[in-house]
Amino acid sequence: MTTNSELQARKDAATPRGVGVMCNFYAARAENAELWDIEGRRFIDFAAGIAVVNTGHRHPKIVAAMREQLDRFTHTAYQIVPYESYVTLAEKINARAPGDHPKKTAFFTTGAEAVENAVKIARAATGRPGLIAFSGGFHGRTLMGMALTGKVAPYKLGFGPFPSDVFHAPFPNPLHGVSTADSLRAVETLFKADVDPKRVAAIIFEPVQGEGGFYPAPAEFVRGLRKICDEHGILLIADEVQTGFARTGKLFAMQHYDVTPDLMTIAKSLAGGMPLSGVVGRAEIMDAAAPGGLGGTYAGNPMAVAAAHAVLDVIDEEQLCERATKLGDKLKAKLTSLQHDVPQIADVRGPGAMVAVEFLKAGTREPDTEFTKKVQARALERGLLLLVCGVYGNVVRFLFPLTIQDAVFDEALGLLEEVLKESVGIAA
Ligand SMILES: Cc1ncc(COP(=O)(O)O)c(C=O)c1O
Repeated sequence: MTTNSELQARKDAATPRGVGVMCNFYAARAENAELWDIEGRRFIDFAAGIAVVNTGHRHPKIVAAMREQLDRFTHTAYQIVPYESYVTLAEKINARAPGDHPKKTAFFTTGAEAVENAVKIARAATGRPGLIAFSGGFHGRTLMGMALTGKVAPYKLGFGPFPSDVFHAPFPNPLHGVSTADSLRAVETLFKADVDPKRVAAIIFEPVQGEGGFYPAPAEFVRGLRKICDEHGILLIADEVQTGFARTGKLFAMQHYDVTPDLMTIAKSLAGGMPLSGVVGRAEIMDAAAPGGLGGTYAGNPMAVAAAHAVLDVIDEEQLCERATKLGDKLKAKLTSLQHDVPQIADVRGPGAMVAVEFLKAGTREPDTEFTKKVQARALERGLLLLVCGVYGNVVRFLFPLTIQDAVFDEALGLLEEVLKESVGIAA
């Protein structure tokens, strides 16, 4: 039998270090919220493939939908020979994305590709080049994705120059001293200091910053962005790649706001583990790109589209939005109850199940990166897979499948409590 350490040595020899890998064990199989490595060790998966399997690993309905598609055809290239399932999925997304206006959807493969295409569409629709994004934001690893991303290490290191006409303003973050008013004022300052608003095509933001630290965008901020956009003819793009598909307790996080974006990017949990992304938006804006300007060989692959149809059904049938809120509330209550024993817990936040805990050095405003690493490492030793995020690497984000069984969820909360207590030297 091949061991984890043998594979680790082969991996180091065969693949570049730039593809950073968090775990030193190798997946053998996975089921709902559990994962087993090649040596038979079990893990509870609170990473969900970075927010991709909100519907769990290998959901039987999703597997069945893919099997059914596998027996018919796996690829024709939608732009060459189209298929009905792509059109039906677009109709479903159009009907369910925020706003009553006519909408259209185009499918792609990755989140970064969705972002690239949202930018292309916004530029084609407005005839303007400029883009405004936010510090701490993450929009992918392509050149434009990196340009828009507001986190230097590790994403931008050594990869410039980036596309021009991209400007950043600070994202609201009260814990670190940035108010909503500060952020909105900073956007207005860009118009005085850096770019004529008439040259700005779009403002792109995440309704809850993902990679940047799970900071939810305050309602006033989102309203403020909409107002700025309306005043200057700028398009508002909500990047819902990480927030979408029931994670926040709604199908899309923008449904928590009384603001409608012009364009929205979707990916990750859209297709339950298959690579599929999309841009959905106002029909007339979506039609701005000339025929042939959008697409890609694999864009809207039929296997991934089949999975996405099943994902939407599972979200409805298993009421995963409600379940996200229920499980998220339970997790937040557990973390809050531990604040007394674990003084590093400075903030517990997030809508629905898009929950995070931020650690600061006890009694200070200083990020506690070391403590966060310790918690993550100890959790992993005990079989609980946790992800870290935040510009300072001091936030643990929780991304468990929303289909997780109650018993497995409770087991994970028990492990989390033990790990947090151990990390401050309290015997659990
Ligand atoms: C908000 C957001 N946008 C874009 C991306 C990029 O998606 P992908 O990694 O599929 O290219 C991510 C990935 O984490 C994301 O969280």
